Amino acid sequence: MTNREIVVSGIRPTGDVHLGNYFGAIANFIKMQHEYNCYFFIADYHALTTHPDAKELPIFVRDALSIYLACGLDPDQCTLYIQSHLPQIPELYLLFNMLAYKGELEKIPTFKEKVRSQEALGKSINAGLLTYPVLMCVDIIIHRAQKVPVGKDQESHLEITRTFANRFNYMTGSSFFPEPYGFSYGNTLLRVPSLDNSGKMSKSEGNPSASIFLKDEDKTIRQKIMRATSDSGPTVPNQTKPDAIANLFDLLRLVSSPDTVAHFDEQYNQCTIRYGDLKKQLAEDMVRCVAPLRERYQAIAADTNYLRRVVQEGGEKARISANATLQGAKELIGLSYF
Ligand code: TYM
Repeated sequence: MTNREIVVSGIRPTGDVHLGNYFGAIANFIKMQHEYNCYFFIADYHALTTHPDAKELPIFVRDALSIYLACGLDPDQCTLYIQSHLPQIPELYLLFNMLAYKGELEKIPTFKEKVRSQEALGKSINAGLLTYPVLMCVDIIIHRAQKVPVGKDQESHLEITRTFANRFNYMTGSSFFPEPYGFSYGNTLLRVPSLDNSGKMSKSEGNPSASIFLKDEDKTIRQKIMRATSDSGPTVPNQTKPDAIANLFDLLRLVSSPDTVAHFDEQYNQCTIRYGDLKKQLAEDMVRCVAPLRERYQAIAADTNYLRRVVQEGGEKARISANATLQGAKELIGLSYF
């Protein structure tokens, strides 16, 4: 275990986990746990930057943990914990806030997007939202991770994480923190589109019928897919696919066999495709993918003792690693006296 590369990733408990989270992140976690030294967590502090509702948080945390386990994360193969169970994270976050500049944080695209969406809801922008990338950087470097399995939307956060890690190394004349990079077995980081062609699938923002949640019943999945935005045409052979159709094909590639994708591609290129048929096939393949996860989720979510044990044991392991990093970083900064 000790000479394996270190991997960290997490999910924010701000709503129901969807297929974007699954294919963009969790599906990679499942495979990586057998090949790397993996730390996977639930980013409850991050949830508070936009969802400070104490009634919902415990429900979403339990859900996210149950989904992790239902998808196949094995507490014997990886370390599973809750972010707020590691007191070393806020301490290192405080130190890294001294290394992060207001101007660079304000320029990060995800901050600008969050400002827009919070303001649209009439909500205020708290300082935690501005320093969100500092906290995310600390989540990653607290175990000195090299690989971070995430979706494409997290790219700018990884770039700034490398900037902060390098800045720390430069300021302390060390090479204490490695440079972490995004990771996906498919090589490029994924972006799973929403069903209404309005962007990516998401937990909390936007239209809930445009995302497939891992808790969705078969009937709901079929309804959502049949109502997904499509288009007319094509009218000319081998025409470039319009965005809405390209999205349906992207989804098909995630859940259907290569033969099925090739079959509909050929029909598209010959102008014989019927989008109703494509959607029916897509819906069935999605049901086949989601139904077993949902059933396992339901059984696991009901077992409070098991969930508690998983995060207690995971927290203990994660705190040992986090403590070693924090003490090393404090010494390099000069915070060690007498
Ligand atoms: P969050 O909770 O928004 O999403 C969790 C993971 O799912 C990925 N994802 C997607 N991938 C493809 N297509 C989509 N439509 C899609 N939607 C979400 C995200 O990229 C992410 O990998 N900031 C993070 C949580 C976090 C974190 C970290 C991640 C906090 N600290 C440290 C990695 C390492 C977030 O909001 O993810």
